[in-house]
Amino acid sequence: MSRFEGKTAIVTGGATGIGLATVKLLASEGADVVIAGRDEGRGTAALAELAAIGGKPLFVRTDISDEDAVRHLIGRTMAHTGRIDVLINNAAMFYESDFLQETTDRWRAVFDTIVNGAYWCTREAAVAMKEQGGGVIVNVSSINGVRALNRSSHYNSAKGALDQLTRCTAAELSPHGIRVNGVAPGFIDTGLSVVGGENELETEWFKRYYVGERKIPLARPGQSEEVAAVIAFLASEAASYVQGAIVPVDGGLSITF
Ligand SMILES: NC(=O)c1ccc[n+]([C@@H]2O[C@H](COP(=O)([O-])OP(=O)(O)OC[C@H]3O[C@@H](n4cnc5c(N)ncnc54)[C@H](O)[C@@H]3O)[C@@H](O)[C@H]2O)c1
Repeated sequence: MSRFEGKTAIVTGGATGIGLATVKLLASEGADVVIAGRDEGRGTAALAELAAIGGKPLFVRTDISDEDAVRHLIGRTMAHTGRIDVLINNAAMFYESDFLQETTDRWRAVFDTIVNGAYWCTREAAVAMKEQGGGVIVNVSSINGVRALNRSSHYNSAKGALDQLTRCTAAELSPHGIRVNGVAPGFIDTGLSVVGGENELETEWFKRYYVGERKIPLARPGQSEEVAAVIAFLASEAASYVQGAIVPVDGGLSITF
């Protein structure tokens, strides 16, 4: 299959986890991928993996919580291939904190990455997409966008805002041939699962409650590749009539209570 032949795809936070799995899948199907990340070393390592896959990959050191850095990313991408067909707003961070212990600076940092970063990337990429006559955006949200997981009000609130950004831009950018959708992963086995030095997927409570008692009906965490497959579907022509949707990729977690 080569669903992305001749297309340029930007993936934020594309050097690790779900982003890296997405980058590899898109590249294996013909895309020229642009990885936007903060860490040069991880970017170089990702490019080395892509060398065996093909395409014309590029890493641009970018902190998406910085509006100027996002403009630089878009400029470098346009200089690289002259177009932007796909944008995957994937970058995010997660940590636990009690609501009453949270600080304004930390709260702002989460919103600057998850909400404002996606806003700046969407706005700048959409200008190029409009010129080209269309494009596709996929926002990587979380089931936390509609659930109140304890000790992560910052992240849950930001993902909820990202879901609204998905719906609102889907409606407003439709006349320009731009589709916008999202995925909402549940528990996925990535670096983000390591909270406070502990991999929560390895803990007894996770194994007992989510797996043993089938709070996750499929009784296991997901893999990055299983999320990447849905992201690639939404970014492909096969999803040509899907607009403003946020697809859970959570083994059924969000249907239980
Ligand atoms: N792993 C899970 O269980 C899970 C569940 C639900 C949603 N998600 C979402 O999936 C996406 C990918 O996360 P992941 O699980 O692959 O974890 P990850 O930590 O491997 O990926 C996040 C990436 O974003 C990058 N990043 C963070 N802030 C950035 C910034 N300001 N500028 C540029 N890059 C930045 C990180 O360096 C990292 O490479 C995130 O949006 C996350 O919220 C993950």
